[in-house]
Amino acid sequence: MNGWSPESWRSRKALQQASYPDQAALAAALAELAELPPLVTPWEIHTLKDQLARAATGHGFLLQGGDCAEHFTDCQSDVIANKLKILLQMSLVLVHGLKQPVIRVGRIAGQYAKPRSADLETRGPLTLPSYRGDLVNGPEFTPEARTPDPKRLLRGHGRAAMTLNFIRALSESGFADLHHPENWDLAFMAHSPLADDYRKVLDALGESLRFMQVVGCGDSGELARVQFFASHEALHLPYEQALTRRVRQFDGWFDLSTHLPWIGFRTADPDGAHVEFMRGIANPVGVKLGGGLSAAWLEDLVQRLNPTREEGRLVLIHRFGVERIERELPPMIDAVRSTGQPVLWVCDPMHGNTETTARGYKTRRFERILDELCLAVDIHRELGSRLGGVHFELTGDDVTECLGGARGLNEIDLERAYCTQVDPRLNYEQALEMAMAIVRKIRGTPAAAVRF
Ligand code: PEP
Ligand code: CO
Repeated sequence: MNGWSPESWRSRKALQQASYPDQAALAAALAELAELPPLVTPWEIHTLKDQLARAATGHGFLLQGGDCAEHFTDCQSDVIANKLKILLQMSLVLVHGLKQPVIRVGRIAGQYAKPRSADLETRGPLTLPSYRGDLVNGPEFTPEARTPDPKRLLRGHGRAAMTLNFIRALSESGFADLHHPENWDLAFMAHSPLADDYRKVLDALGESLRFMQVVGCGDSGELARVQFFASHEALHLPYEQALTRRVRQFDGWFDLSTHLPWIGFRTADPDGAHVEFMRGIANPVGVKLGGGLSAAWLEDLVQRLNPTREEGRLVLIHRFGVERIERELPPMIDAVRSTGQPVLWVCDPMHGNTETTARGYKTRRFERILDELCLAVDIHRELGSRLGGVHFELTGDDVTECLGGARGLNEIDLERAYCTQVDPRLNYEQALEMAMAIVRKIRGTPAAAVRF
């Protein structure tokens, strides 16, 4: 690839990078990282790319979800298992409802670096570097915690490896076995107004699988396993570079820190360092698209990231917000069409719909999230395009960070279990309800009836 190397990004402007006071310690940590085993393999990456390519032509749907920011303390069996469970359960609802394969991608096992609106944070007389995610520094407001520490790069790699190891083990050992959906229930589901609906879906799915086994259609071993991929924002370029490798059996370079790295909205400048880095790796690549972009900008971006128009390479994740999507999305769809690029369109209905309550909680309303998704489905349809996936910030736990949903969480409820350090996530029930609502919408239930 012309002029590209794993470090060619260094000649471009890199936004949102940590500023390490001890450069020798940084170099030592990166050298050690570069010798450690990778976290994923090129074979898995190719499998994902093939599936994304099929989804882009209408044969598949991407479900991408997880934390806004993972923390090293999230590397615990329950936290990981609950996240896996909600993603698997949502995907089950989607597979059953959409009659399509669903590609499951977590924001997991590496979502440790965050872009921030300011480099510094001031509290009273003290000004310190902003918290940039556990990969860089700690959230506590002390000079020790906030000073970027290169050893965190090695801890991040270790935590991501442990998380992936547990996910792989659970997937292989029958936790994800579709023949046993009863394993997937979480205790508080029993109180959900959606429990009956959900059980009907599970019964119907179990029935289909048993039927396929009886008639000997397909390999039931294959059917019983679910595939699960990892993704994170590839924000910390020295970390990503250290895990970018070549393997004998394939052409090109792979970022083996994750299957699907994405470029955040704030770092998507076509001339910037993040786009330079991502243009040369062989992974599929996501890009977040937000308000205020021009068609010419997007055309330039997609051509740079995918000059050969490879299928399965580009995942465009729009996050305009319910107020702006009708104005901003159509020109983007037209722009991409004019380039002839085969992209997968995905809606992130979280990041354009964030607000702060009178009591100071950063939150999102379930109804607005769902409204943006419904508009996205309609706009793509009207323009002869297709919404091929969804991107959520969610957790498998019973947190109270987003308002609304079937239980009608209100501003007082937010105080009960508001746990996020960065953005508000859908809780278990809200996420499952969202999956059911997506099915209703895509299958053509009138908009007014999409909500429960
Ligand atoms: C995120 O996905 O957490 C994020 C920061 O999103 P965006 O780049 O779309 O603002
Ligand atoms: Co976020």
